[in-house]
Amino acid sequence: MMLKRLLILGGTGDASELAAMASNIPGLEVRVSLAGRTSQPGEVSGIVRIGGFGGIDGLVKYLQTEQIDLLIDATHPFASQISWNAAAAVKEVKIPSLMLVRPAWEKDKNDNWIEVESVETAANILPSLAKRVFLTIGRQQLAPFANLNNIWFLMRAIDPPSPDTPLPQGKLLLARGPFSLEDEKKLLLEYDIDTIVSKNSGGGATYAKIIAARELGIKVLMVQRSAMPEVKRTACVEGAMAWLVSKLGVY
Ligand SMILES: NC(=O)c1ccc[n+]([C@@H]2O[C@H](COP(=O)([O-])OP(=O)(O)OC[C@H]3O[C@@H](n4cnc5c(N)ncnc54)[C@H](OP(=O)(O)O)[C@@H]3O)[C@@H](O)[C@H]2O)c1
Repeated sequence: MMLKRLLILGGTGDASELAAMASNIPGLEVRVSLAGRTSQPGEVSGIVRIGGFGGIDGLVKYLQTEQIDLLIDATHPFASQISWNAAAAVKEVKIPSLMLVRPAWEKDKNDNWIEVESVETAANILPSLAKRVFLTIGRQQLAPFANLNNIWFLMRAIDPPSPDTPLPQGKLLLARGPFSLEDEKKLLLEYDIDTIVSKNSGGGATYAKIIAARELGIKVLMVQRSAMPEVKRTACVEGAMAWLVSKLGVY
């Protein structure tokens, strides 16, 4: 059987799960690419490479020189640059590709969401509605909140922000999901949080805070996703596996 090569663009739990499952497909070599943002990524199956490719051209070159046959973009829905680059690169090298992206969370009738188009918009409107905020947008976009002096922030990220990032006043928690509903409720009550700022990431790993907010009557400033490339998509790891199997003609 001719060996086929799959490149998974990773950085999410789904990507790691997919890599583990795809590694069991006979005749398939699995490569996983990480941006290198987290200092200690969880365990990832397959051959892992770390760091940017150098834009669309760099990715095209990588796909060609490494003779990649299939690409699955399983990056985070807010990692939009790499997804646009991947869509352009696979078009150029003409290999089959799929995007694995969890559907956005849907607002429940008991949710008190204010939907905003960007993190910057969230920072702009926050002073009119919050005093104690749980800021759960990762560590890369904390700067827009740094000058909001009348608000206290509880920030949560996997790794610490880079030392030159201006930080809002408050407390930084370093933790990696998934988080339980019980723990999220405890956290919101302990720090007397009145508003959460979250990206609409979708998926189960970080959804408990949204349920906790609903149950405690806490507002959520929900940052919406920006446009994604018009490419073939699946919403779950199982869908990505079915696509792989259909492309490889195995089983
Ligand atoms: N943004 C979030 O909220 C978020 C949340 C959780 C996890 N992540 C993960 O963190 C990573 C970086 O996110 P981001 O928002 O900075 O992405 P981004 O804005 O889309 O990407 C910026 C640049 O980082 C490089 N890059 C991104 N993902 C890569 C990957 N999987 N492999 C190799 N290079 C990659 C690319 O550099 P070159 O142009 O040089 O190739 C890309 O142009 C992604 O892999 C994503 O899945 C992001």
